[in-house]
Amino acid sequence: MPTNEELITELEAREAKIKQMGGPEQIKKQHAQNKLTARERIDLLFDPDTFVETGMHVKHHCHYFGLDKVDIPADGVVTGYGKVNGRTVCCYAQDFTSRGGSLGEMHAWKIAKTMDLAAKMRVPLIGMLDTGGARIQEGISALDGYGQIFHRNTLYSGIVPQITLSMGPCAGGAVYSPALTDWILMVKGSSYMYVTGPDVVKAVTSEEVTHEQLGGTMVHNVKSGVAHFVYNSDAECIEGCKQLLSYLPQSVYDKPDSTYKKPTDPADRTCPELDTIVPENPRKAYDMKQVIKAIVDDGEFFEPHKHYALNMIVCFARFNGHAVGIIANQPSYMAGVLDINASDKAARFIRFCDAFNIPLLTLVDVPGYMPGTYQEFGGVIRHGAKVLSAYSEATVPKITVCTHKAYGGSEVSMCSRSIGADVYMAWPTAELAVMGAEGAAAIIFRREITKAADPEAKRQEVAELYRQTFNNPYVAAAGGYIDKIIRARDTRREVIATLESLLNKKEERPWKKHGNIPL
Ligand code: HXC
Repeated sequence: MPTNEELITELEAREAKIKQMGGPEQIKKQHAQNKLTARERIDLLFDPDTFVETGMHVKHHCHYFGLDKVDIPADGVVTGYGKVNGRTVCCYAQDFTSRGGSLGEMHAWKIAKTMDLAAKMRVPLIGMLDTGGARIQEGISALDGYGQIFHRNTLYSGIVPQITLSMGPCAGGAVYSPALTDWILMVKGSSYMYVTGPDVVKAVTSEEVTHEQLGGTMVHNVKSGVAHFVYNSDAECIEGCKQLLSYLPQSVYDKPDSTYKKPTDPADRTCPELDTIVPENPRKAYDMKQVIKAIVDDGEFFEPHKHYALNMIVCFARFNGHAVGIIANQPSYMAGVLDINASDKAARFIRFCDAFNIPLLTLVDVPGYMPGTYQEFGGVIRHGAKVLSAYSEATVPKITVCTHKAYGGSEVSMCSRSIGADVYMAWPTAELAVMGAEGAAAIIFRREITKAADPEAKRQEVAELYRQTFNNPYVAAAGGYIDKIIRARDTRREVIATLESLLNKKEERPWKKHGNIPL
């Protein structure tokens, strides 16, 4: 019989061996690629000495292709829970040094257990992915493992926030778990994601592409919109994840306003620079980010999808300490027009905030929808409808501030009163109308303009008439479509006063299984 001391020595020896992961050669290779190991990443994420590892001694059951003779430490994935800035989160980190972080039956089982634990603990789930995909020797067991994970990603969506840190290869079916999570953070140079790799692309299409060109960070942060954040290193990416977590509740069950942070920025601070930010010349633009910066606490906001669909801004920020999700048109890019990508970007953000009880502030300056065959063939009807659906469905406090243009269908889309804004405010520069004065006057006064001795002078005269009638906030306010016309300089104060009054808002929806959002 071994002594107690011998048993402890054995445990320590086993733990030490597992912690060596794929061994010094593989670790050296990992570092040479500018990548940290799974355990180094975990150390950076969690508060010191808080991480509790689970399933460290799990072994695979595979007998094929000599794998029964191979020991894969922790089966290639480190799992557990601990504290991040004092709040509990569950995490799994794939270990590329151990058989390329490939996913077999038990590797998947460990991840699935961690996901179940996150849902039971009601805490966020963080996945750090660095993997060659399905463990080829395990065949269908590996595929089943992916299915188990996808199923849980879906079941726990809207229960706990799910965040993916894509920190290496992420190929084949491996990309669908990230896609089912709420947020994807990538690392420049080391992370790439695609369904079919360069070899398959070449065989099928004869196109020669690198990993980076096919699914690198800028592909997904700029073009596809699959990823939300990009960082220069693993350490920066983990820091970004912590920043994101600071705005998120632990789960849907968390008490409202759980991420409140004592403010230092005065709630009654005015922003005089905003009084003149909207240019008098309607053809000139301004940067909506300057408005956001001016009105939020300490000028700080945290922006997902910073490089994607730049005509729409989405971000987290605080007002007098309360976390809020902001959706804003960006007039300085494509005039802030609504298109397919901007609609998808906004709708998904709105749905995330609503699912996790984060109030919404919408800043409106939108000239309409992007015209053209490219948009129509791409389904701008279907994508644009997502925004209407997301706002209409959302029951969190919804405040809208119109700074300038709100024309046509896009006026309705950007959280108008009709689709559920609790309070709609407008600056004196706001124009809520079917369209801009020039366009409107050219249509309804076409005959008068054509017949006039000086058509140009007539065109300007009738445009001015239309502008004075509709392109201001007063007709909309007279109809009750706007609750309040505010001075731009008072926006911060007004938003805070309204937000704090709405924090305990309750809005019910009739029971149903689920709606059918236009996907
Ligand atoms: C088993 C794998 C593996 C895998 C990597 N390894 N991927 N083992 N199954 N999927 C092993 C390698 O054999 C190697 O073992 C070690 O991990 C490190 O891999 P390298 O190839 O040396 O690394 P690197 O050169 O950096 O290349 C990374 C890579 C490449 C591009 C990801 O490993 C690769 O192409 N892997 C296969 C990718 C793939 O086709 N996966 C299946 C996708 S299908 P040794 O012993 O030499 O150190 C899929 C379907 C899921 O995922 C569907 C779900 C619905």
